[in-house]
Amino acid sequence: MNFEYTEEHLAVRDAAREFAQTELLPGVIERDTEGKFPAEQVKKMGDLGFMGMMVDPKYNGGGMDAVSYVLAMEEISKIDASASVCMSVNNSLVCWGLEKYGSEAQKEKYLPRLATGEIIGAFCLSEPEAGSDATSQRTTADLHGDHYLLNGTKNWITNGSSASVYLVIAQTDASKGHKGISAFIVEKNSEGFVIGKKEDKLGIRGSDTHSLMFTDVKVPVENRIGEEGFGFNFAMENLNGGRIGIAAQALGIASGAYELALAYSKERKAFGKPISQHQAIQFKLADMATQIEAARLLVLKAAWLKDQGEDYAFASAMAKLYASEVAMNVTIEAVQVHGGYGYVKEYHVERLMRDAKITQIYEGTSEIQKIVISRSIIR
Ligand code: CAA
Repeated sequence: MNFEYTEEHLAVRDAAREFAQTELLPGVIERDTEGKFPAEQVKKMGDLGFMGMMVDPKYNGGGMDAVSYVLAMEEISKIDASASVCMSVNNSLVCWGLEKYGSEAQKEKYLPRLATGEIIGAFCLSEPEAGSDATSQRTTADLHGDHYLLNGTKNWITNGSSASVYLVIAQTDASKGHKGISAFIVEKNSEGFVIGKKEDKLGIRGSDTHSLMFTDVKVPVENRIGEEGFGFNFAMENLNGGRIGIAAQALGIASGAYELALAYSKERKAFGKPISQHQAIQFKLADMATQIEAARLLVLKAAWLKDQGEDYAFASAMAKLYASEVAMNVTIEAVQVHGGYGYVKEYHVERLMRDAKITQIYEGTSEIQKIVISRSIIR
């Protein structure tokens, strides 16, 4: 067993930390207040190789391992979780799925631009009536010769308006249940594809979350990913990796809030000494640090298993379940350590607390992670 990072891991982590401090921190409060997508910053993340970190260099990717990816995700999420969810979806739900299951023609057409952030992608599974119960897809794709006609509505789509390429899950044969679900690549400018309103959210307010409407959208057969009927398994496999990304995001939100609370506790004085010298605060810091370390180990273990080519569905569900709960606990405590200052925007921790909540909801709620974990234990 080896708990040491390689030099490459440390270099990636330091580059992400530097980028987050210099490019994401300025303006993060304003973007949150205005609900503004960090378009310029995401472009720069692409230039630095953060949008296609694990993609093979032959498709312009970074060729890095999943451990490097989670280290970068943690650093970027410490500062701006709206930017990091865009990064997570592009890396793990779009690039990974395309590279693993796409045809050579699909990879050549889309991956090089996705991996460099020249364009970004979205993953469209959720619907108004199919969230946790993802097999209840109402969106249909009917075959008409050399193309499908796509009809339906998708909800809560991250990168909803900023993406150029959408991986859309749809029902191709309702009689076959989840075996009748397929996956398609849909381009933004397709006729009949309408981007609905932007959601006004509690947290990750800079992330552009939209509903999407498809009315007789023509999708060429060559844009289907894998065989007909493979779409649900495709979505599940994608989400196993996606959940590692979101677990790393949750870890970053927690560690960002903890670092702020620790620094503040050393500066703020009460009853004649820094509040870090009061046991009430020391115990909070000790609990926060312990939970973060445990979450980090689960996240790294899931990423490491992925890098070893081992099954990581169980580990990614555990990492996401635990890290998202830690993100919630730690951010609430970080606000408490800051007292009244924690309740105002200037000190960042209230934003991190709002951002933390989504990590218990998207890419499978905590309850869904418990289903995945318990099925694995019991089978
Ligand atoms: N990994 C691999 N395969 C999986 C899997 C996993 N984690 N979970 C299920 N499957 C496979 C099963 O093996 C089965 O395949 P076969 O028939 O080939 O054997 C198939 O999927 C159906 O599985 P179940 O019978 O278990 O289906 P179910 O309906 O009982 O439950 C579920 C499945 C686990 C609850 C699933 O619906 C689920 O994960 N729901 C949550 C959906 C989700 O995470 N949505 C997030 C939206 S995306 C998002 O948030 C992105 C964003 O923008 C940030």
